[in-house]
Amino acid sequence: MTRFHILTLFPDMVEQGLSASIIGRAAEKGILFLHPVDIREYTRDKHRKVDDYPYGGGAGMLMQAQPVYDAHRAVTGGRQVRTIYVTPQGVPFTQRMAEEFAKEEELVFLCGHYEGIDERVLEKVVTDQVSIGDYVLTGGELAAMVMIDAVARLIPGVLGNESSAGEESFYNDLLEYPQYSRPEEWQGMRVPKVLLSGNHRQVAAWRLEQSRQRTAKRRPDLYEKYQERQDLIQRLSKEKRNHIHMMESLSRGRADVLYTDFRGRDTAVLLYDRKARICMMTALDRETGERMTELIPEDTQMILLSEPFLRDMLTREKYVLFGEFSQVLYTKREPLPVKHKEIRQLSMDDSAYVCKWYGYGQEGPGTDQEYVRERIQAGAMYGAFLEGRQVGFAGMHDEGSLGMLFVEDAFRGRGIGASLEAWAVNRMLEKGWVPYGHVAAQNTASMRLQEKLGFYKAEKSFWWLEKVLAKDT
Ligand code: ADE
Repeated sequence: MTRFHILTLFPDMVEQGLSASIIGRAAEKGILFLHPVDIREYTRDKHRKVDDYPYGGGAGMLMQAQPVYDAHRAVTGGRQVRTIYVTPQGVPFTQRMAEEFAKEEELVFLCGHYEGIDERVLEKVVTDQVSIGDYVLTGGELAAMVMIDAVARLIPGVLGNESSAGEESFYNDLLEYPQYSRPEEWQGMRVPKVLLSGNHRQVAAWRLEQSRQRTAKRRPDLYEKYQERQDLIQRLSKEKRNHIHMMESLSRGRADVLYTDFRGRDTAVLLYDRKARICMMTALDRETGERMTELIPEDTQMILLSEPFLRDMLTREKYVLFGEFSQVLYTKREPLPVKHKEIRQLSMDDSAYVCKWYGYGQEGPGTDQEYVRERIQAGAMYGAFLEGRQVGFAGMHDEGSLGMLFVEDAFRGRGIGASLEAWAVNRMLEKGWVPYGHVAAQNTASMRLQEKLGFYKAEKSFWWLEKVLAKDT
């Protein structure tokens, strides 16, 4: 359960502001804990004063160090807790920051009033100074509430629809497209025709175009970033089969570009998918390889690469070889036929079955079981059923590739695996994505299935590396 402590002179304001609506409901359900703390309770002044004049003169009053420090101590008990001072002097708050804060189990928000807070206590307790924009409010409470709202909705279980947080404004450096609901005609204005067509591909193309136009007009800064990504995708597309993983990661708005070097047709690229903690890389030679290796973020869990010399360089200490794979991709736009009819998206109620066949019996943090549960929660796992009994599953990995295909022995040879994969492919096509995946080098049966479904294979071999687990000593 994520805990939010809000140090403020107006605890009622925070209490009321956050108790309503979705965040309030999540707090009631015990998914998160909202804890407004009245700084004035910690004053040692007999008139309950918490402010004083600034040294050196100037307008207004400052909040004094002692009450703020004592309130912070009372909440944290001296533990290291990420503490955010909300102030117009801070770095601008972003979705990325919200994602980072959402990983913490506990956060303190410190709200200023008057002309600010004595710098010494900020030095002592604050880890981040953050602003919600270039304007000045009367106090930090509203700003803290803005941040708490943005962070809380990313916590699993806070939003009803689990998959909805990942796919909205800013996921792609583009603003969201316009949306319409019933009636079809309102005050003489009609819903755009394409949205009534039922043609997912055309709908996706229309939405992308709308997003582009909107972003170019309203947010030229974001649009420039978007175009830089598009340029990189364009370059990578010269070897589409070898680069589809990077192209998709970029176009779906997942990857940060950490390094690029282009020489003619040849490419060196290092991408980092922060959410999945996965690096994807391709190098020109040892030298670019070494340069990129230095840029691999510390918390990287897995690396996907396609050069043997990179594999050898990187498996010397921090990483071990997880396996060799063929990369396959489906470049057609037409949905695949799904013969087996009983297929649906899985919910957490189905997780025991998936864990039984995917988790090798291991439980706890960092295991496959935890991973597939997280995938189910993300709405990315699909199950096949026979007369209501589950017989297999497939899904989408965190970084976006297809995988985890499984059909119980007793039910193989009936096209259920093909149907499961076709179903997953169709879901991806609906989103305007190019389905791709990795087949273990020895898995000839799966390779045959991919060919049958119309997948192409990349010329290069691919290797997944994983981080060496720290040994308990
Ligand atoms: N306090 C006053 N104005 C603020 C802002 N724009 N962002 C964060 N905290 C604030």
